[in-house]
Amino acid sequence: MAQPRPTSRRFRPQLVLALLLAGGLPAAHAADLARISSPGDVLTVTVESGHEGRLSYRVERKGEAVIAPSRLGLLLDSGRLERNLSLTGQSRRSFDETWEQPWGERRLIRNHYNELRASFAEKAPAPGKDGRHFDVVFRVYDDGVGFRYDFPRQTAMQQAPITAELTEFTPARPATAWWIPAFEWNREEYLYHRTPLNQIGTAQTPLTLRSDNGLHLSIHEAALVDYAGMNLARGDGDVLRAALTPSSNGAPVVRTLPFTTPWRTIQIGEKAGDLVESSLILNLNEPNAIGDVSWFKPAKYVGVWWSLHLETETWATGPKHGATTANTRRYIDFAATNGFRGVLVEGWNPGWDGDWFANGWGFDFTRATDDFDLPALARYGADKGVHLIGHHETACAVSHYERQLPAALDLYARNGVDVIKTGYVCDAGDIQRQDTVDGPVVREWHEGQWMSNHNLRVLKQAAAKHIAINSHEPIKDTGLRRTWPNWVSREGARGMEFNAWGNPPNPPGHEATLVFTRMLGGPMDYTPGIVSLKGRNGLPLRSTLAKQLALYVVLYSPIQMVADLPEHYAEHPDAFQFIKDVAVDWEESHVLNGEVGQYVTLARKVRGGDAWFIGSVGDEQPRRLEASLSFLDPKRRYRAEIYRDGDGANWETQPFAFVRETREVRSTDQLTLQLGAGGGAAIRLVPLE
Ligand code: NOJ
Ligand code: CA
Repeated sequence: MAQPRPTSRRFRPQLVLALLLAGGLPAAHAADLARISSPGDVLTVTVESGHEGRLSYRVERKGEAVIAPSRLGLLLDSGRLERNLSLTGQSRRSFDETWEQPWGERRLIRNHYNELRASFAEKAPAPGKDGRHFDVVFRVYDDGVGFRYDFPRQTAMQQAPITAELTEFTPARPATAWWIPAFEWNREEYLYHRTPLNQIGTAQTPLTLRSDNGLHLSIHEAALVDYAGMNLARGDGDVLRAALTPSSNGAPVVRTLPFTTPWRTIQIGEKAGDLVESSLILNLNEPNAIGDVSWFKPAKYVGVWWSLHLETETWATGPKHGATTANTRRYIDFAATNGFRGVLVEGWNPGWDGDWFANGWGFDFTRATDDFDLPALARYGADKGVHLIGHHETACAVSHYERQLPAALDLYARNGVDVIKTGYVCDAGDIQRQDTVDGPVVREWHEGQWMSNHNLRVLKQAAAKHIAINSHEPIKDTGLRRTWPNWVSREGARGMEFNAWGNPPNPPGHEATLVFTRMLGGPMDYTPGIVSLKGRNGLPLRSTLAKQLALYVVLYSPIQMVADLPEHYAEHPDAFQFIKDVAVDWEESHVLNGEVGQYVTLARKVRGGDAWFIGSVGDEQPRRLEASLSFLDPKRRYRAEIYRDGDGANWETQPFAFVRETREVRSTDQLTLQLGAGGGAAIRLVPLE
């Protein structure tokens, strides 16, 4: 591993440049070319040039190496863009702005960074001929770094098929890593591996690391637009190299100049919770491109869903069909009685009969089955303030879906459906793309360039009709909700459905892992609230009752499913009260404590209100956690409505040991949360008059 250099060394870019141009530096000796620090001087990025004019960057935090010198460059169709590169210019700027999220885990976000734009040119291939040139733009925040390649228009190159990115990330210290494998058939639906950094195989991002000095890192990307998703393949030792998702086009990415790549991101915090509180990914995305989205209402929803996964009802038509008019009415009534805005109905359209997994080309998105009266149900719901939530499962046949999309969106828009759950159940690499009706069908990856564009086509058409999208089996979340705030949620990890089928169910520490891994990308439609604590054939969830409530606070999404069956909620009225009360849109959010994969406690303040909610979840270890209430208004007293594990609560032996109690608290108080094995706690704090 390369040794970090001390930051105190005197830095003279002009001298270095002159030496380089004169070919004056000994080979293999890296020279610093440019440097930029974060606004609070916490992080410093240095760009350096080494052997044969190869570029690398390194990151230091308060003078200590965090990312050791790591390569920059790309493998292009027109040849490797890696050697004989010289710095031709550099510019800097500072930016500080606070922007408002239309909905989110916090209303106001400060975007405060220093930027370095370093321009590089390749040695001219022949006299009178220009070499290729590009910029690398670094944005350095106190809590992380983003950088991307920017290719301006140029004579040396018009098109850029990108065969590979040579970008590397070399954590400077040994670390523990939490990661899921890339390029496996079940996409992102894997349990997280916890291994030493040097035992990572090829990982998806976000990838989370805890260094041996306690520093926490997350490597990910922001603004994945018209590009292939980045995975991380471990090379020698601790080096992680960008591994772009393949494409049917040959090169993973084909772009015409000018273009920029997505941001490569490294979030850095002292505590695990710092990663969760960082807004770096959102900040690196472009501002809202679709204008006012007040038509999107963050809300809870119920649906014909868990029964399908339990196999007590079916997607297919027949005697057990879930999506019937009568059954949907029952859910609409349940939603209206309990104040939930949405009712999701899956299996409402033709195409589910038989082996739907294998027959995506049979789905019709513009018609309902005979036993499902969509307009009548839409009217029935509207009278009660309830909206149907649409469902578009593509089962691989994505071009088939896209052809129907305008009419499918029209149908839903006419019926007041303003959120659609999309689905891409399909083995990784098996997405079916057919550019013309009679043309060949080629295969794509969920995270490839074509799918990144497909997702945006859906999003833009939906936005034009004031419809929000919640994608399952999605492309990973890189913060595009800032630019297209109708992309409200997605799956992209093992969700609750795994607790219905087993093989195996999600382990007790799963959600405390998700918070520090998958959720760093953005909201997840985990579908919590299985108060029966049982999957198919009585399979036990690895969760206590209180933990199911805590998930509403811990796993952020602006749409949260109340996922269990109405009859199961009737059996747990105390627990159900919390689900009715809990908010879904927040003014601010704070991590009170947490360790990756072990436990986490979050406090969130209701947007447009004075109440706070706390959620805490653990793993298989019983735990006692302290939560300071210093975030509360010091001038007020609050009623704490506590929903917690009872004595002896344990997912395996006593999952229903549960206590609901009330006490008065103030900001100087500290709450002690006692979590059972697989346990949790959920609290609502309401100011007293
Ligand atoms: C997988 C989704 O995650 C699940 O929620 C949905 O019910 C099925 N696909 C069918 O679309
Ligand atoms: Ca899924």
